[in-house]
Amino acid sequence: MRVLITGAQGQLGRAVAQAMRAMTDWQVIAAGRGELDITRADAAGQIAALAPDLVVNTAAWTDVDRAEQEPDAAFAANALGPLTLAEGCAACGAALVQFSTNEIFAGDPGRVYYEYDLPQPRSVYARSKAAGETAAARVLNRFYIVRVAWLFGPGGNHFPAKMIAAADRHGTLRVVADEIGNPTYAPDVAAALVALVQTGHFGIYHLVNTGQASRLELAQAALDLCGRAHVPLTPIRMEEWPRAAPPPPHAVLVNQAAARLGIVLRPWQEALREYMQVEQARFALPVV
Ligand SMILES: NC(=O)c1ccc[n+]([C@@H]2O[C@H](COP(=O)([O-])OP(=O)(O)OC[C@H]3O[C@@H](n4cnc5c(N)ncnc54)[C@H](OP(=O)(O)O)[C@@H]3O)[C@@H](O)[C@H]2O)c1
Repeated sequence: MRVLITGAQGQLGRAVAQAMRAMTDWQVIAAGRGELDITRADAAGQIAALAPDLVVNTAAWTDVDRAEQEPDAAFAANALGPLTLAEGCAACGAALVQFSTNEIFAGDPGRVYYEYDLPQPRSVYARSKAAGETAAARVLNRFYIVRVAWLFGPGGNHFPAKMIAAADRHGTLRVVADEIGNPTYAPDVAAALVALVQTGHFGIYHLVNTGQASRLELAQAALDLCGRAHVPLTPIRMEEWPRAAPPPPHAVLVNQAAARLGIVLRPWQEALREYMQVEQARFALPVV
């Protein structure tokens, strides 16, 4: 199989490239923004010329708060980008994996979301990602929409890494206790994606680690695993941490469709433990 990965220098793109390169007989073209800018009109032609069997789009505008100020740029990458890629796939007969987010759901308290629930995006970022899903599904029959959430992985500037850095800076942290999601390890998503695309069952999937957590629980778990259990955490409510794009409070994804195919990701706590070992050197205690 010949696979083209876009956004290949991002957190998820790197993990997907690594997992797919490990597959014998898979030819992997890992394109960063420099090689393939998905907002350029000629991106469709570039894809057709590369003639992949599968395009995995991990490229996206991921600055959720800044999207409120720059909606045109967010929509260009997250809505028109997937549309262009889908047109390129249609031209050469490739299938498309379009990554999406739990943030397309309203996240009403107590709710969990299945693959077939209707998106109710609230922020500019969420609307642009929902539009990207629609574009892929409108142009192609052979697509996988893969929603993920709260990603962390090697080299990423993600929530656990930010919490550890903030703990070292301030010695104490205020952390939101009423935003709930699925902490998810990028390499686990990549491994699950490799399994999924081999099934040939196209459709909408939720590839998240098993279990859910509040931001506070995730921060505590990360600090515990890197020798900072002593850092005092104060629970706060979402409204006490104002953001340009308030996130959905309870956009918890259920993996029902991939589970039906035997694809289930391990509990997030196990994945976080492995991750903290992988990046042990990065999170070594500061010398005082
Ligand atoms: N991170 C999360 O917690 C999370 C949660 C839910 C869903 N997701 C989704 O998961 C996917 C991967 O996210 P991630 O965490 O890997 O994000 P990331 O680390 O920010 O990676 C995104 C990559 O896309 C590239 N990119 C941006 N605009 C591009 C363009 N026009 N053409 C080509 N490449 C472009 C970025 O390059 P530059 O660095 O040059 O901008 C970056 O390398 C995205 O679809 C995101 O919406 C992420």
